[in-house]
Amino acid sequence: MKTNENHSLRLSKCVLVPYRPKHVLKYHEWMKSEELQELTASEPLTLEQEYEMQKSWSEDDKKCTFIILDGSKLASDFGNEVDTMVGDVNLFFNDVDCSTSAEIEIMVAEADTRGKGIGKEATLAMMQYGIATLGVTIFTAKIGYNNKLSLALFHRLHFKEVSRSEAFQEVTLELVVTESVKSFIGSSLQEYLVSAYSE
Ligand SMILES: CC(C)(COP(=O)(O)OP(=O)(O)OC[C@H]1O[C@@H](n2cnc3c(N)ncnc32)[C@H](O)[C@@H]1OP(=O)(O)O)[C@@H](O)C(=O)NCCC(=O)NCCS
Repeated sequence: MKTNENHSLRLSKCVLVPYRPKHVLKYHEWMKSEELQELTASEPLTLEQEYEMQKSWSEDDKKCTFIILDGSKLASDFGNEVDTMVGDVNLFFNDVDCSTSAEIEIMVAEADTRGKGIGKEATLAMMQYGIATLGVTIFTAKIGYNNKLSLALFHRLHFKEVSRSEAFQEVTLELVVTESVKSFIGSSLQEYLVSAYSE
């Protein structure tokens, strides 16, 4: 979407930046992994399709995407942003009945970066951005039955199961944004700074 195309979110462990053409090649390499395709319920795309997808997402007001950069690598790797990419986090506004409902997706693709709190921090920051900048009132997440880590992450963030699909083998979790949810997110994020993104 256009709203976040020049926004960067600085957090304590990672930095979120808008998805740009320079990120596509590495993103495409990640998505060749069958494990990641299964965990994120994604179909493999050709590189050309991936570039088209990046372009369409950057223009589509129903999709907000940030690339996650590892803050510790960024500190020692200035000038080479692509080397510090570790995943992505997305919001999709696809609920025809509620324009302020957003489905959230998170992926920490680099396995050696998992388990360090980056997935949780990036998810919380996207929720903060969704509420404060995009007016989200309900978050949903669709997670495969077997994706134990992701289920643990969203339960930890107080999402509750609202339905199950045997056909897709996934559960839908939901979190309604209340004042206590806002204060939970605010107190969980040690650092959250929205600044201008420049390449
Ligand atoms: C799920 C995923 C995003 C978690 O990211 P991460 O950076 O490894 O997770 P974090 O280190 O921030 O941990 C977040 C929470 O996940 C759970 N978790 C993470 N690693 C865990 C482990 N090894 N065992 C049990 N729980 C674990 C915990 O609840 C943890 O919260 P806590 O530390 O407060 O207890 C990451 O594993 C991933 O991208 N997996 C593949 C793609 C995917 O499944 N995406 C979800 C589709 S929406």
